[in-house]
Amino acid sequence: MSDSDAQRARVRVVIDGESVDVDEGMTVAAALAVCGASMSGTRASVTGELRSALCGMGICHECRVTVDGRAHVLACQTLCRDGQIIQTARPR
Ligand code: FES
Repeated sequence: MSDSDAQRARVRVVIDGESVDVDEGMTVAAALAVCGASMSGTRASVTGELRSALCGMGICHECRVTVDGRAHVLACQTLCRDGQIIQTARPR
């Protein structure tokens, strides 16, 4: 671990009921990606295919999640905040 890693601030978010610590300044889409396979994906398509962030720049809308009760938030355009509640619509 480098000094910069050790000094990086962390925030705690809740993703689908699971508490996780992520780097401050990270997008919600990045948090979903780095928190492992069980956290990846945002929803299922009408055919049941798992969907997740694609463009990373606010165009495709594949990354929509619910943040603090607000639906259809673009995960790739939203920064993680401490205490944030993130809900995906992926199949369980
Ligand atoms: S990943 Fe395409 S809009 Fe978020």
